[in-house]
Amino acid sequence: MPTALTRRVSPAIIHCELTHLERQPIDYPNALRQHAAYEACLEALGCRVQQLPGDRGMPDCVFIEDTALVLDEVAVITRPGAESRRSETAAVSEALAAYRSLYFIEPPGTLDGGDILRLGKSLYVGISGRSNAEGIRQLSSLLGPSGYTVQGVPLSDCLHLKSAVTQVADDILLVNPRWVDPAVFVDWRLVEVDPQEPYAANALLLGEAVVYPSAYTRTAARLERLGLSLRLVDASELAKAEGGVTCCSLIL
Ligand code: GLY
Repeated sequence: MPTALTRRVSPAIIHCELTHLERQPIDYPNALRQHAAYEACLEALGCRVQQLPGDRGMPDCVFIEDTALVLDEVAVITRPGAESRRSETAAVSEALAAYRSLYFIEPPGTLDGGDILRLGKSLYVGISGRSNAEGIRQLSSLLGPSGYTVQGVPLSDCLHLKSAVTQVADDILLVNPRWVDPAVFVDWRLVEVDPQEPYAANALLLGEAVVYPSAYTRTAARLERLGLSLRLVDASELAKAEGGVTCCSLIL
């Protein structure tokens, strides 16, 4: 049974990092309810959910994906690009040490897990405002000996690579072609987000199911037409904090 590591929403989430969105009020009780429903969805899909405590001093800590890359062999603890988020890694590395040997990204490298798209042994890493060339170089040198290839991918107008592209089936990627060049993924079958839903490319593939935000109805219809099995979750409060469905868990 896979474990999904999650982290409770911080009561300070209203002070989260924002890069491409205007700050809006966030309804904290509603964010907690939506997060609990997301965790229930992961449980219904067969995961054991292990929730780490939230932290008042870490507004973005619910977005646990950014703190680590978990592979079958090892986990890499990142060094998040936003300084306000660096302290998030301590509790995550303590929890992950029970499951994996750990590697660490060291200064001056920066790397956010949201920038890492793993497709088999290929790791695509967004060259973003959060992940720098040194972080990508360190990732490559840490994981090359285990047979992984690491490729930097230019982005425009979005926070992370997985804002722009995620895997939705064994052979299909969901992509926003305005934010990442689809030509990077030539060997894949691509489905584009509806142009009216630029934030719709972030989906979480778990087994055969796709955990997906209920807000993006047009793109959801495209995915369903391909025969994909969607599990819709209301992620609207955390979307105001510039987070998506992959951001809220690490699947082990
Ligand atoms: N608020 C999510 C992030 O900027 O990291």
